[in-house]
Amino acid sequence: AGDGAAAATARAHPNIALVKYWGKRDEELMLPAAGSLSLTLDAFATTTELRLDPDAAEDRFELNGEPQSGERLSRVSRFLDLVRERAGSPLRAVVRSRNEAPTGAGLASSASGFAALATAASAVYGLPQDPASLSRLARRGSGSAARSIVPGVAVWHAGDGDDSSFAEAVDAPELAMVIVTVDERQKAVSSREAMRLSARTSPFYAGWVTSTEESLAEMLQACRERDFTRIGRITESHALRMHAVIQSSEPPVRYLSPTSIAVFDAVVALRERGVEAYSTADAGPNVAVLVRPGDAPAVAEALAGFGRVRAVGAGPGAALLPADAARG
Ligand code: PMV
Repeated sequence: AGDGAAAATARAHPNIALVKYWGKRDEELMLPAAGSLSLTLDAFATTTELRLDPDAAEDRFELNGEPQSGERLSRVSRFLDLVRERAGSPLRAVVRSRNEAPTGAGLASSASGFAALATAASAVYGLPQDPASLSRLARRGSGSAARSIVPGVAVWHAGDGDDSSFAEAVDAPELAMVIVTVDERQKAVSSREAMRLSARTSPFYAGWVTSTEESLAEMLQACRERDFTRIGRITESHALRMHAVIQSSEPPVRYLSPTSIAVFDAVVALRERGVEAYSTADAGPNVAVLVRPGDAPAVAEALAGFGRVRAVGAGPGAALLPADAARG
């Protein structure tokens, strides 16, 4: 600690899980009930500048040019408390973030957000900057952020504890996605609350956790064998299982809208016509359709009637921006 700079800027991209994370076994340490696997995207980045303010008594957080308060600010500030505790620093910070995706609409802006924040904060407060350490730290902000530290396909190990629960890169075939944004509004129930509810009340939760470990082992094998069809099948069925668990909570939560379901059906119809595409969706109504890169334009065109479509590929891991680029 102590060898940080006064300011740093980092950029990170969201990820979409092919084997989902849904449930924690330790809320304080943000340890997941099971491992998961995702694709970091090359779009919808978050860029975050963190600047120390030696005179300030509180952290400040600005998102897309708007000063934040309430839960958004306290989430950032609690995360920085952890960083300060590790760094032995009392200094408060000004955090300025810019999201290229709508916030809170199930496009994982919390993943890119906390991956960028962990990267910038580690540089400024002088914490370790190797990928495993950054991933472990990002995990504390938002579980899925652990995976956005890593480029391309990432496995997040459930681990035995804080030290072993981080994400790392996995060899996989080239993958692309068509993101279908059916609704940009903020989701009604946060993934944090809904996960808690599923773990406490869904009669299917125990089966979800054990079957996720099996899906992950199968997925890792499919990635190793570069078996796109198997990767796609596991992706779609695992997403539907997650939404089944969410919908079976008490009171029930439903993230998928009628339009989301229509996209899932349209993707089944595409497969019947010989185009290999597979659907998934996170804690919101938007659908990500997994395809081989060469099929992305045709699939995007086929799904354009359901919402805004955007073809994306595998993206880079979180990184600091050079000071010059950061200033611009
Ligand atoms: O990291 P969180 O708390 O935003 O949870 C993410 C949960 C899902 O996006 C629904 C699944 C996943 O693995 O990303």
